[in-house]
Amino acid sequence: MASDLTAPILDALSASDAPLLSSEALPSHPSLNVKSALDRLGSRQMIEYEAIEKDVIALTPEGEDIAANGSHEAKVFDAVVKALDGLKITELPAIVGKDNAKVGQGNAFKHGWIKKDKDLLRATRETIVDTTREALLTVQRTKTLDDTKAIADLKRRKLIVLTKEITYKFSKGPKYAREFVKEETDLTAEMLLNGSWKTTQFKPYNFNAKGALTPSGALHPLNKVRQEFRNIFFEMGFEEMPTNRFVETGFWNFDALFVPQQHPARDLQDTFYISDPLTADGPREDPPNDPHCPKASKDKPLDYKQYWDNVHEVHEKGKFGSIGYRYPWNADESLRLVLRTHTTSISAYMLHKLAANPRPARFFSIDRVFRNEAVDATHLAEFHQIEGVIADFGLTLGGLIGFMEVFFAKMNIHQLRFKPAYNPYTEPSMEIFGYHEGLGKWVEIGNSGMFRPEMLESMGIPKGMQVYGWGLSLERPTMIKYGVSNIRELLGHKVDLNFIESNPAVRLEK
Ligand code: PHE
Repeated sequence: MASDLTAPILDALSASDAPLLSSEALPSHPSLNVKSALDRLGSRQMIEYEAIEKDVIALTPEGEDIAANGSHEAKVFDAVVKALDGLKITELPAIVGKDNAKVGQGNAFKHGWIKKDKDLLRATRETIVDTTREALLTVQRTKTLDDTKAIADLKRRKLIVLTKEITYKFSKGPKYAREFVKEETDLTAEMLLNGSWKTTQFKPYNFNAKGALTPSGALHPLNKVRQEFRNIFFEMGFEEMPTNRFVETGFWNFDALFVPQQHPARDLQDTFYISDPLTADGPREDPPNDPHCPKASKDKPLDYKQYWDNVHEVHEKGKFGSIGYRYPWNADESLRLVLRTHTTSISAYMLHKLAANPRPARFFSIDRVFRNEAVDATHLAEFHQIEGVIADFGLTLGGLIGFMEVFFAKMNIHQLRFKPAYNPYTEPSMEIFGYHEGLGKWVEIGNSGMFRPEMLESMGIPKGMQVYGWGLSLERPTMIKYGVSNIRELLGHKVDLNFIESNPAVRLEK
């Protein structure tokens, strides 16, 4: 081993019973190599050692340069002396360099080495002592300097830095020997047979050694927070919705939710449209035996044609007691394919299924959605939405507020505020704000409301049944929990794997 210093250490000690200093006995060896050799010998009690920390002074690269070539002011002085009959001030930079000229001229004046004579510089003496260089040479040799004022001055000029140096004081241990015998690490069958095990030296176990980290998979913080939310939903009797469709028709993403076809959310600037294929079929029966689709109810077959016609009519003319939006509804627009902008498209799909057998139900989902947004520290073009839906008879807005208090309390958010808001598919609608103890401020945590009759009755949900809905992003609470301020550190190609591997599990209520 090139860096094995055990032999030089044992050699040095053979001549001395007094303790030695590594800085003297083993100068110019990297401290890490010295330490590892001392550890090896120390663990076998061949030596004893202790570390001594010492304050030392080191030269910066600029300090090294001055120690070798002289200070700026000395260079200026030399240039002036060499000019014999005065040096034109304007010529100085060309001779000594711009940096030397600037700093050196001032210092040389301060020392009184040179003086100004019209546009000439003249030397006031024949020789000078370059005190800066002298001091730096002393530091280079001894790593110290007696003059504290000079130290402060050199430090301010960034020519030296104060650091610590570790040296080791070592001496013979109870099992000192001149030679470090190579120790066996394994007891073999041969050693047992030929008896050599009796005299062989074995390497002692090192019970202090930390094992090498076993590489393993790690869950992404978003996955951990997602699991926490799932647990909360399951605890409260929710059923998970199938969210395995990133691409939806405008029908499920917008029209079914009573979002008019002129709504700005449907603009190209806000929504990603699929160009190939451009459109899909209208709403229809799920493919048979698709494991992701909830089992069809046997109670009443769903009439997709009726649903489509209802949506058309409720937008264009109004129905179910609503006057509608009164615009010519375009079937092609409804069939265009989009990357879903929210998981509320899935809620619509599930509520339509529920209409075959209207009964109290609780659904949730946590999955990815896409919006054509300018990417910045808090926005990406894709994120995860947490969505919940509760269907029951006789629900009221007060009940929704009460539910939110219970739901968010499970995340240790106990103060909520509600602000009237607008969604095309809910009325009334509320933005939810929570007081975040950690951040010490109110933060927007979600959007919610009661789904409109235009949406529910088109599906066949009976009049007496109301449905709460709410949504929040998964990224927001994850960023707060893990102290991430830039969303790009959490999701996308810039994520640091080390960040994923080293983060602890999350407990939302903590
Ligand atoms: N879809 C809403 C959003 O994207 C969330 C929401 C869902 C609001 C259900 C009300 C009802 O912000």
